[in-house]
Amino acid sequence: MSLDAAHVGSGKVRELYALGDGTLALTASDRISTFDVVLPTPIPDKGKVLTGLSAFWFGRTRELVPNHLLRLGDDGRTMVCRRLEMLPIECVVRGYLAGSGWKDYRDTGVVCGHDLPEGLEESSRLPEPIFTPATKAVAGHDENIDEERAAALCGDDAYRVAKEASLALYRFASKYAESRGIILADTKFEFGVAPDGSVNLGDEALTPDSSRFWPAADYGEGRPQASFDKQFVRDWCERTGWDKTAPGPELPDHVVAGTRARYVEAFEKLTEVPFDAYVANPEVVL
Ligand SMILES: Nc1ncnc2c1ncn2[C@@H]1O[C@H](COP(=O)(O)OP(=O)(O)OP(=O)(O)O)[C@@H](O)[C@H]1O
Ligand SMILES: [Mg+2]
Repeated sequence: MSLDAAHVGSGKVRELYALGDGTLALTASDRISTFDVVLPTPIPDKGKVLTGLSAFWFGRTRELVPNHLLRLGDDGRTMVCRRLEMLPIECVVRGYLAGSGWKDYRDTGVVCGHDLPEGLEESSRLPEPIFTPATKAVAGHDENIDEERAAALCGDDAYRVAKEASLALYRFASKYAESRGIILADTKFEFGVAPDGSVNLGDEALTPDSSRFWPAADYGEGRPQASFDKQFVRDWCERTGWDKTAPGPELPDHVVAGTRARYVEAFEKLTEVPFDAYVANPEVVL
C-alpha cells in the first residue's frame, strides 16, 4: 500500500485501508475461516482467486446494480473501492436446499418465512430462488431472520433495493455458471449506501467463500454435494472432531493443496481465464 494509506480495519479475510482520496483499498489475504473461525493455515493464492472472481462479476453486472469496484491493484488481491456505509445484513439467495436452509426446512418446513413445498430433500432445487437475509453477527454466527426484521434493520427502501438486486444477481450468475457446468446453489451479497445515496453491491461477490458452487455433472438430490468451495475444508474440520471454537486446527498439506485446487478450478471454469494469466495481469478479468 502507498504511504498515504491508513489501515482502518481487518475482517476474517480482508484488510481495509483508507486511501488519501477518500476511496478504500480492500486486500484479500490467504486466510480461510470455517464455522466463523480463522484457521491457522493459509491457502496460497486464495485472496487472488477471490479478488479476481469478484472483479469478473463486478464487471459483468453493473447494469443490474452499481458496485463499489473502481480499479484492481497490480498484486491481484487488492480492489480499490468506493467507500460504502454497509447495510447490517447478509443478503443470501438460495436456489437449492443446503446448509442452514436445509436444516431449517428439515426441522420446520420453513426457511426465513418462506413456506416451501413438502417432500424436498437435501440439495433439492427450489421452485424459485428465495431471499433469506441473515444478521451480520459482530461475534459468533450469523442468524437467519425474516423480512420484517431485515427491513427494519436497513430501512424499507434500501432493503427493497438490496433484495431485488440480490435476486437479479443470483438469476444472472446461476444461469451463467450453469453454462460453465457449475450449479450456484446459494450465495451471499453485501450492500452499502454510497455518498450519493445509491445502494451499491460491495465486498466480494460470487466467490467460493461467499457461495456454494457444485459441479453439475455430479449433482444428485438427497445427499450432500461435491463442491468447488469451502465445503472440502469444512468436511475435513468436522471429521477431526474439532468443537468449532478458536483456535481451529492446522490443515495438513493435502487439505491445503486440495482446497487451493478447488478455488483455482472454480476461478478458471467461471472466468475462462487461466489463473496464471490473471496473476500476470489482473485486468484480464474485467
Ligand atoms: N465498499 C466498502 N466500504 C466499506 N466497507 C466495506 C466495503 N466492502 C466491504 N466492506 C466491509 O469490509 C469487510 C471485509 O472484510 P472480510 O471479508 O474479511 O470480513 P468478514 O470476516 O467477512 O466479516 P467481518 O466484518 O465480520 O469480519 C467486511 O466487514 C465488509 O462489510
Ligand atoms: Mg467477508
